[in-house]
Amino acid sequence: MVGVSNATGLQEACAAVNGFLRSRFPSVTWTSIAVLFNPRMGLHRDIQNMAGHLNHALALGDYTGGRVWIEDDEGDSTAWLADKKGGRELRGRWLDMHDKPVSFDARRYHMVEPHAGSMWALAAYVPQAYARATEQHREALREADTWLFCLFEFGSSLQILASKH
Ligand SMILES: [Fe+2]
Repeated sequence: MVGVSNATGLQEACAAVNGFLRSRFPSVTWTSIAVLFNPRMGLHRDIQNMAGHLNHALALGDYTGGRVWIEDDEGDSTAWLADKKGGRELRGRWLDMHDKPVSFDARRYHMVEPHAGSMWALAAYVPQAYARATEQHREALREADTWLFCLFEFGSSLQILASKH
C-alpha cells in the first residue's frame, strides 16, 4: 500500500533522521528510511527493494555485537541457508556498522548478528513500491521536501517514503 501519512508529529523526527542519514551518506539518494530498535534479523533478502539501488545502513547506541553479515562471493566467512532441499552454504563477510556507514545490495542475503544493549538501526533505501507511487506522490515529494508518505508499518518498524534530494 502506498499512501499519505497524516502523522504530522512524525515529520520532524523523520526529517531529523533523514538529515542525519544525508550527513553520513552524502553522495547517494533514497526514497525511504527504516528505523529499527534492537533488530533481530536472521538470514534474509529484501527482494522488495528496487534492483540497482543499494541499502545504506548504520547503527547507533550503546551495544556490543550487532555486526551485519552480507553475502559476497569473495567473502571470507560462510552462512548456512536452510531450504527445502536441505540447504546450502553462502559466502559473505561481516561488516561493522556501529556508527559506520555501510552500503550493500539488500537483494542479496544478509543478517544482523545478535547484540547486547540498545541498538538503533537506521537504513535508507529504495523499495519497489516507489515505482507504484503516483506521479502526484512524486511531485509532492519533490516540492514539499518533507516526509509525507508512509509506505507501510510492520512490527516496530515504520517505513516512510521520504523526501529525495
Ligand atoms: Fe534486510
